[in-house]
Amino acid sequence: MIMAEARISVLCSGNGSNLQALIDSSTSNAPDSIRGKIIKVTVNRKGAYATTRAEKAGIPTDYFNLVKDGYQKLGEKDPAVLKEARLKYDADLAERILRDKPDLVVLAGWMHVLSTNFLRPFSDAGVPIINLHPALPGAYDGAGAIERAYEDFKAGKLEDNTTGIMIHYVIAEVDRGEPILVQKIQIQEGESLEDLEQKIHGCEHGLIVKATALLAEKISAAKAANT
Ligand code: GRF
Repeated sequence: MIMAEARISVLCSGNGSNLQALIDSSTSNAPDSIRGKIIKVTVNRKGAYATTRAEKAGIPTDYFNLVKDGYQKLGEKDPAVLKEARLKYDADLAERILRDKPDLVVLAGWMHVLSTNFLRPFSDAGVPIINLHPALPGAYDGAGAIERAYEDFKAGKLEDNTTGIMIHYVIAEVDRGEPILVQKIQIQEGESLEDLEQKIHGCEHGLIVKATALLAEKISAAKAANT
């Protein structure tokens, strides 16, 4: 093990194919692979296949959920109560993750909008948080980005028939943080939504690995210089 390698904490909600790409790269010796170790995978949804992927790779997991962990009652509707529950959950989530002393946090298909209660402790600790979003900067923020781009394409409203993906720093405004890497993806005539989704997911794996490798390299170099 390289002592200076970056400690990476990954957050997932679902299948975890992006997590798998990160695991494969961080355990590979290829020259452009991630110079870092995934120290924890946190999931917020029961049965998320990401958990199985992490376990198979021998990575510790933490299933931390708003309802299971008692922050929110099932079926709660009161917006003020819901907001309060999420703020408390976010603060505790940050604390749990920071306990492992990560150098970098990667949101890889994490379907929960994080408030400043989560973000602030990381910025105070100087730990960057990055996110994968399947759209170009400033376009299609939030959930359903691929579907919305596809609808615009079908309606002839998508400029150059082009959407894309990006890895960006996380700030309080959803999907608006500074982009680290951006990849344009053109939609072809006759392409179905399912085809497009598949194409986009395939590209995501490459981009999330590239951006994580880039940051892990900088972190490792800075750690090595300080030892
Ligand atoms: C990704 O396709 C991402 O665009 C979206 O959630 C998906 C996660 O996929 N936000 P996976 O869990 O990494 O397979």
